[in-house]
Amino acid sequence: MNEFPALVSDRKKIIDSYLKDIFTTENKYNKMLYQCMAYAVNAGGKRLRPIIIMLVWEMMNNKEYSDIIPIAASVEMVHTYSLIHDDLPAMDNDDLRRGKPTLHKKYNDGVAVLSGDALFSYALEIFLKSEAIAERKLEAMKYFLNRIGPEGIVAGQFVDTEIDRFSRDEETLKYIHNNKTAALISACFGLPGIISGASDSDFNLLNSIGMNAGLLFQIIDDILDVESDPGTLGKSVSKDIMQDKLTYITFYSVDNAKKEAREQYEKTMKLVRTLQYDYHMIEKLIEYFYTRIK
Ligand code: IPE
Ligand code: IPE
Ligand code: MG
Ligand code: MG
Ligand code: MG
Repeated sequence: MNEFPALVSDRKKIIDSYLKDIFTTENKYNKMLYQCMAYAVNAGGKRLRPIIIMLVWEMMNNKEYSDIIPIAASVEMVHTYSLIHDDLPAMDNDDLRRGKPTLHKKYNDGVAVLSGDALFSYALEIFLKSEAIAERKLEAMKYFLNRIGPEGIVAGQFVDTEIDRFSRDEETLKYIHNNKTAALISACFGLPGIISGASDSDFNLLNSIGMNAGLLFQIIDDILDVESDPGTLGKSVSKDIMQDKLTYITFYSVDNAKKEAREQYEKTMKLVRTLQYDYHMIEKLIEYFYTRIK
């Protein structure tokens, strides 16, 4: 049913191989730190964020990858750091990630906190290895930092974690999902736009497609939490209800969450079809976001 992973397996190989080679050192003191970062990054994620970056990059008629692969790798590293911290006992308290024990389970909380910290700063170093023109790289970095900090991922994670301080309404639910998940996914659409020198209107459209796709992605994540199993997902299930999270399942119901997902899918597809480029791979990507089972 889902042909998408096979369609993009070549791109995944490129990013996997880049990420396999960057966590090495001969220094006995930080060797384990690099090994821990590599453990989390190369545990077996879907690599969807770098794949989006590559597909948008290709759509905008770029052939050469050297400008964009370090940026794609950097985004995957930031995503992975956010997962390491998300799984900590102080946050979601998860034992399983990408089919393997979480870092704090394998070692301890301190190791997991510090591996996340190291991954974040190392990600920014890797980003700068992009061979894109300096001005575009700087503009892209500014946008990236905005999407992952207190106006993005961390803001969403904060409200998700401290939900009792906020009202459990639709506005809060959207705030959480738009920030903890859609912000980084929007960057995956916007970054290749900036590096390609896209016009303001193209960039705004890409960013907006990314925000809509990101919300769809998190609605499906909420649904999979009640409908899938750890063997398929590679992470534990039924944890959102148990932890009294504000999600599309706990706020609506399974049926209404599915209705919301359908609407969000259609809204995103409509936007994709206004792109002035050959968007057929982006359509397939959005289809996959909607129909994925893991
Ligand atoms: C999981 O992201 C965290 C969310 C934002 C829902 P993915 O489902 O992309 O996880 P990996 O990278 O494949 O492990
Ligand atoms: C995670 O949301 C979003 C992040 C930014 C890490 P979830 O807490 O729902 O992600 P999973 O279900 O643990 O992957
Ligand atoms: Mg969480
Ligand atoms: Mg979680
Ligand atoms: Mg989840």
